[in-house]
Amino acid sequence: MYDFLNSMPKVELHVHLEGTLEPELMFELARRNGIELPFRSVDALKAAYQFEDLQAFLDLYYQGMAVLRSEQDFYDLTWSWLQRCKAQNVVHVEPFFDPQGHTARGIDIATVMAGILRALSDAESQLGISHKLILCFLRHLDEDSAMDILAQAEPWLDKLAAVGLDSSERGNPPGKFARVFARARDKGLLAVAHAGEEGPPDYISGALDLLRVDRIDHGVRAIECSELMQRLIDEQMPLTVCPLSNIRLRVFEQMADHNIVTMLEQGVRVTVNSDDPAYFGGYMTENFIALYEPLGVTAYQSLQLVVNSIEASFADDVRKAELRRQLQQFAQSHQQVL
Ligand code: ADE
Ligand code: ZN
Repeated sequence: MYDFLNSMPKVELHVHLEGTLEPELMFELARRNGIELPFRSVDALKAAYQFEDLQAFLDLYYQGMAVLRSEQDFYDLTWSWLQRCKAQNVVHVEPFFDPQGHTARGIDIATVMAGILRALSDAESQLGISHKLILCFLRHLDEDSAMDILAQAEPWLDKLAAVGLDSSERGNPPGKFARVFARARDKGLLAVAHAGEEGPPDYISGALDLLRVDRIDHGVRAIECSELMQRLIDEQMPLTVCPLSNIRLRVFEQMADHNIVTMLEQGVRVTVNSDDPAYFGGYMTENFIALYEPLGVTAYQSLQLVVNSIEASFADDVRKAELRRQLQQFAQSHQQVL
């Protein structure tokens, strides 16, 4: 099954580039930039990856990204992740990045954009991986700060597919960002938002009604509200679910309790994603494996989850057709497993 899941063509719709920073690269960049990390070794850093909740993780995540300073740093981060994508046969990616996490440290947004875009472009030409890039607003900051970063991103609007909303969910409802999302949509960008990871179901409804999002990131707490579940099914609203993340951040106690299969069986357009793979113990293949073992997700259901990702992606129609073809071809050559 590991070989099947690793070689299955996959689509990643929920990954934070800063969350792909592996401890080894963090140490290398710290050395390159003369930054002292509050950990003596890679092992000591890894030992700190025990999180009580989302905020405990975010505290370490923001500390980690401080090693990213030059264009080359952002290139190396993005490129090393893309090579992992290639090794796992991830063929289309829609990564997030958090520009406010960098401009707040005095890094020019042009530096961030140049490094990320060069790596994504190299991946397109050298690895055959297509992409759509998503700029995220940090929800623990105010809406004026989000407006400001959107204005700073203006020269790269044609390189961005969508805006998103991440960071501390509790106490930061979607309505706080209604104006900046409206402005982004006016500029032709699509929209996504983290909702219902730790926050209540009405944050999901709020993201749909007030931010007019095209996808919900996480959304697993929708299951607490039957009307909302029916709405997600009726509208075929995609949820970008991140199984390993949900266990590491204690959204569910154990994988056997995860609701992704229930949602899939009820007709919700759920997808599998990795969130912050360097911190949560796995990339795309490991997330599929994590569902196979305790939840008994079948090979056929795994394919169905990828179909959902293709349909939910922001790829253009030509690329979507190509992705469907690739998956179909893979399924046909693995009939014996299905
Ligand atoms: N930023 C990085 N990972 C995140 C997550 N899982 N939830 C909210 N914000 C994030
Ligand atoms: Zn996330």
